[in-house]
Amino acid sequence: MDLKAISLTLHLLSAVIWVGGMFFAYMILRPIAGQQLEPPQRLSLWAGVFKKFFPIVWLSVVLLPLTGYNLIFSVWGGFAAVPLYIHIMNGLGIVMILIYMHVFFAPYKRLAQAVAIQDWPTGGKKLNQIRQLIAINLTIGIIVICIAGLGRYTSFMI
Ligand code: HEM
Repeated sequence: MDLKAISLTLHLLSAVIWVGGMFFAYMILRPIAGQQLEPPQRLSLWAGVFKKFFPIVWLSVVLLPLTGYNLIFSVWGGFAAVPLYIHIMNGLGIVMILIYMHVFFAPYKRLAQAVAIQDWPTGGKKLNQIRQLIAINLTIGIIVICIAGLGRYTSFMI
């Protein structure tokens, strides 16, 4: 197996796990937790969920550009030769990574602190910020996957 095959496989796994994880958290867990749990249990649940999920997202946000740039240089011979859909994927991928880093270093850190000292009103505000940013990143992630999938076989994207 060559490095291109390994790169594309790791690239796809990173995208599937990151975007799939956001999809599950936002579309499935969030409404059920909102219906069934009071703020202390709900905020503690989310702090625990993010503590487990975010190290995996860190791995994805390192692997996506690393493997993506490896593919750009090994398959296409550099940025000058790549089709439009890969430029769009690169741009939107960087936006997603910056949004994730902001979530991690700002509202998530404060959510974890608030849960540790049982400050539920502050925790609720921070969770709300995380929810909005994850909604944005999930939307961009789904758009990027559609662009990546359609781009390869759609001539207007070339
Ligand atoms: C961060 C910068 C990124 C770069 C530089 C990049 C680059 C690339 C490259 C070069 C390919 C191979 C395309 C081909 O040869 O046809 C690819 C495929 C793909 N990428 Fe990205 N990517 C990035 C981020 C992302 C993100 C954030 C996602 C998903 C959320 C994503 C999803 C995909 C998918 C689904 C494919 C498979 C498309 C195919 O092989 O036809 N990429 N990417």
